[in-house]
Amino acid sequence: VSVRDEGPARRVADLGGLVETTLERALADSRVEGLDELGSRRLIEAMRYSLCTPGKRLRPLLLLTSAEAIGVEPRELVPFAIGVEMMHAYSLIHDDLPAMDDDELRRGQPTNHVVYGDGMAILAGDGLLTEAFIAMLEPLEVDGRPLAARLQMRVVAEIGRAAGHAGMVGGQAADLLAEGMAPEEGLVQSIHRRKTGALIRASVRAGALLASAAAEELAALDVFASHFGLAFQIADDVKDEVAPPEVTGKHRGGDREASKITYPALFGLDGSRERCRTELDQAIASLSSFGPAAAALELLAHDSVAPAFADHGA
Ligand code: IPE
Ligand code: IPE
Ligand code: MG
Ligand code: MG
Ligand code: MG
Repeated sequence: VSVRDEGPARRVADLGGLVETTLERALADSRVEGLDELGSRRLIEAMRYSLCTPGKRLRPLLLLTSAEAIGVEPRELVPFAIGVEMMHAYSLIHDDLPAMDDDELRRGQPTNHVVYGDGMAILAGDGLLTEAFIAMLEPLEVDGRPLAARLQMRVVAEIGRAAGHAGMVGGQAADLLAEGMAPEEGLVQSIHRRKTGALIRASVRAGALLASAAAEELAALDVFASHFGLAFQIADDVKDEVAPPEVTGKHRGGDREASKITYPALFGLDGSRERCRTELDQAIASLSSFGPAAAALELLAHDSVAPAFADHGA
């Protein structure tokens, strides 16, 4: 079956459905049955609460559609891709904690710590981060053949690096330390590239690497991901100011209340949208050599920043 004969929207929806069912199963295995309160039952409930509430599943979908751009059928990579979503889910739980952004709404529901308490939310994040590595180390097949373990180890290490102090966690630390500072372009861009861009970039690169992309293909996808990762967090900043909870599933205006260093704080809404658009255009331009194989990846990129440009009646 060619990966190119279905419309990209349909491909994204199909892959999203597969990600969803695999996430549902991930923590629902039999070991959980019969656990009592002082076993891990409440912890696993808290982990599932944040993992299984409907999100965009952007990072696993980027991984899968990046592999598709290389010409590999991406379904076999879903068990790996959900590991990246687990890592993302953990980062959201911790991001919302009172000691961090202190948010009470996420994906249209009370945040993890509001439901389970701070201690359990911290542990649910720890549990998901750990589980992410287990998921990514599951033996994989690509086009029906076992994937080389060394290649897979390299990709897991890349994701780990992107999620750690040199990437997401480092960006989150800088985001906290910069609260209340005067916004400056180099700083805000560095924070955004690390706290959000790094995991997005690693997801795209992972799909390409697992699909054994050639060096030029990997380089082009890397350029795409680097621009898109920044565009995505600029769009997130804009949505924080303009989009209501019905659209974002999050409380509006939290960045301003917490004196966060954001693009709108520095460039205003229109200036931020302009920069978001420029980054997105550069991202999409770098996909040109892939032709229709990258249509799903391009669609994902467009759709995920679009709400920052919509009229929310504000
Ligand atoms: C929100 O990510 C946090 C950021 C890194 C900007 P998403 O916008 O991908 O959130 P979900 O997964 O769809 O809820
Ligand atoms: C969060 O950035 C980045 C990570 C969770 C790594 P934000 O704090 O802007 O994300 P939201 O707006 O709460 O989703
Ligand atoms: Mg934050
Ligand atoms: Mg936040
Ligand atoms: Mg935000």
